[in-house]
Amino acid sequence: MYPSSEIYGGLAGTWDYGPLGAQMLYNIKEAWWKKFVSSRDEIYGIASSIIMPEQVWASSGHLEHFTDPLEGKKFNTMFKTKAGALRDEIAEVYLRPELAQGMFVNFKNIVDSFHPKIPFGIAQIGRCFRNEISPRDFLFRVREFDLMEFEYFVREKDWEKYFQHWRKEMWDWVKEVGIDEEKVHELKVPKNELAHYSKKTIDFQYDFPFGKKELYGLAYRTDHDLKNHKLDYYDEDTKERFVPHVIEPTFGVGRTLLALLDSAYTEDELGGEKRVFLRFRPDIAPVKAAVFPLLKNKPELVKKAGGVFDMIKKEIQPVMFDDNGNIGKRYRRQDEIGTPFCITIDFETLEKDDVTIRDRDTGKQEREKISNLTNFLKTQLIQ
Ligand code: GAP
Repeated sequence: MYPSSEIYGGLAGTWDYGPLGAQMLYNIKEAWWKKFVSSRDEIYGIASSIIMPEQVWASSGHLEHFTDPLEGKKFNTMFKTKAGALRDEIAEVYLRPELAQGMFVNFKNIVDSFHPKIPFGIAQIGRCFRNEISPRDFLFRVREFDLMEFEYFVREKDWEKYFQHWRKEMWDWVKEVGIDEEKVHELKVPKNELAHYSKKTIDFQYDFPFGKKELYGLAYRTDHDLKNHKLDYYDEDTKERFVPHVIEPTFGVGRTLLALLDSAYTEDELGGEKRVFLRFRPDIAPVKAAVFPLLKNKPELVKKAGGVFDMIKKEIQPVMFDDNGNIGKRYRRQDEIGTPFCITIDFETLEKDDVTIRDRDTGKQEREKISNLTNFLKTQLIQ
């Protein structure tokens, strides 16, 4: 990660992701989408606009309430801009500070086109913007960030049941994705600190190196949003018309990445040497495998390694090729970015058509036939 626009001095609260960080963001989002959207029948994924008109934010209550105190006054942290060029066509618009309103304004579209039965959810992953007064702690508090969030629509009488249901699923996500669960703590947000739309919120806090801070949130938004947007639901079976209530699990992507880096960071001793490695779940790791010719100045090894590299990356991505420096240093470099497997092509390879596969966590090496290599890696990398 790099400070954004760094060659011009940077811009507070903005960060750019380099190749490894960008790949990790993508991996986190893909894992989340799989768990909460594509593997479920009753959750509908959408991708709504970032720019939304003022009326949305007036109805949702954000114009009035999405504020932070600043010198005794209230400072609205939404970014405001204008859309259009001609004076009578100019609209006051806002960059969304949360994804949720995109789901609410599409509620009727989803109901009319997919006819979902209650309970059901609408989900999305996307960028949000907040003009934070004091951005800080690296990726923790920034002015633009990706969120993964869904609104789960239930009957009012069932809200507690589904609140508990999603609370448990959030814990499952924490464990599955590789966040150290010992460092995650629930906090019931006190009444006077609840967001304007929430009747009950649990924060999932994480022991970050800079303190115990919010990682995720789970809110009971009641019927606040649908009611204010004048939306409701008609149940064809019971012939009832009512306003559904909403349970909302929300996950910051940058904070997930920070928690993963902290959870995966491991120091140990291998072969009498100290080393640092990142114990990422294989599908979260930015590089899945690295291929090395044992020696750079032996053309037959480099050529053979090139062939193995081309073969693997047809089915597993991303894979890295490295012939720089001694083999121990190459292992350390991959350890430091959390690559689960390193494959070395040595002189024995030329005779037996097999390679060594080194496991990141144990440092143990075993030999595997090249013909079986892709399959072996695929089975090891599946979660
Ligand atoms: N729709 C509900 C909502 O937006 P929130 O608690 O205001 O709730 C959701 O934000 C999540 O977004 C947080 O749990 C956190 O992970 C992340 N988040 C909030 N503000 C952030 C910021 N300034 N920088 C990075 N992540 C942030």
